[in-house]
Amino acid sequence: MIVTTKQLFELAYGKYALGAYNINNAEQTMGLFRGNMDSKAPFIIQISKGARSYTNKLMLEAMIRAADEIFPDAVFATHLDHGDEATCYDCIDSGFYSSVMIDASHESFDENIAATRRVADKAHAKGISVEAELGQLGGVEEDIAVSEDKAHLTDPKQAAEFIERSKCDSLACAIGTSHGAFKFAGSQGLHFDVIEQIQKLVPGFPLVMHGSSSVPQDEVARINAAGGKLAGAKGVDPAQYLPAAKLGVCKINIDTDGRLVWTRVHREFFRDKPDKFDFRPVGTIFMDEYAKFIASRNVLLGSAGHIDEVRAALQK
Ligand code: G3H
Ligand code: 13P
Ligand code: ZN
Repeated sequence: MIVTTKQLFELAYGKYALGAYNINNAEQTMGLFRGNMDSKAPFIIQISKGARSYTNKLMLEAMIRAADEIFPDAVFATHLDHGDEATCYDCIDSGFYSSVMIDASHESFDENIAATRRVADKAHAKGISVEAELGQLGGVEEDIAVSEDKAHLTDPKQAAEFIERSKCDSLACAIGTSHGAFKFAGSQGLHFDVIEQIQKLVPGFPLVMHGSSSVPQDEVARINAAGGKLAGAKGVDPAQYLPAAKLGVCKINIDTDGRLVWTRVHREFFRDKPDKFDFRPVGTIFMDEYAKFIASRNVLLGSAGHIDEVRAALQK
């Protein structure tokens, strides 16, 4: 059942965070739905610009619609991840998306507000909600490279003004994370002080954490043992998901970790079975492993076990 992102946030706020997982292909879609059903969790499917053009945006939408039929008990929202204005409008017009993200965080404060406001006006007219981003994460997102030294955290004082003027419905805050597998050097970590200050200024307003993959060290070790070169990869401590949720972080974005599961499964499979060349045996292992991974994350996010109560609330 595709629901609105707004409804999911209202039910989760301050209690748990929704896992927002990116998908690109059928195996990932099946693993994602299975993992969420196994852990009885509502969730958000994220579709990036790159994912929309990898096969075809219609292919991705068709896969999600098919999964909705295969798993009739699933409760989820569909979300455009890191959109530019044109992609936001395309998604709003498609009628498929529960919410869109306009990422104009690389623009000036006023330009970011203006772009977000334009998207919000169009989205709200169709009942779609809008995520915006203030502050900049480190690493690489889509085709915008943000060097670590230029990455800056969200200014809590600006956040309240931004929300008021832009009319966004949720705000992605830069609190020390970055996209990808190499997030932290030394003892860097999350800036809970920034989330706390933002929540005090905009109580009840849904916040979003990007760059939240945990980059499990056992996964990295297995990838490297099977020929990978990911030395020094490091992620967010997943024990911090729930404390962040209690401070109003309703949506926690996880993509890289899924790629690591895929890489580990495929590297180990072809290392151990060099005579194999069929998609399906390795794809079957990946779907099982990805489902297990998703279920384990939902437990850490606190969303596991909430599906029945959310469905009941939304069907009232
Ligand atoms: O933040 C970006 C997400 O991890 C999506 O990545 O743009 O390569 O699909 P992508
Ligand atoms: P990770 O690279 O940490 O998985 O972050 C994903 C993300 O923020 C998608 O928007
Ligand atoms: Zn992101």
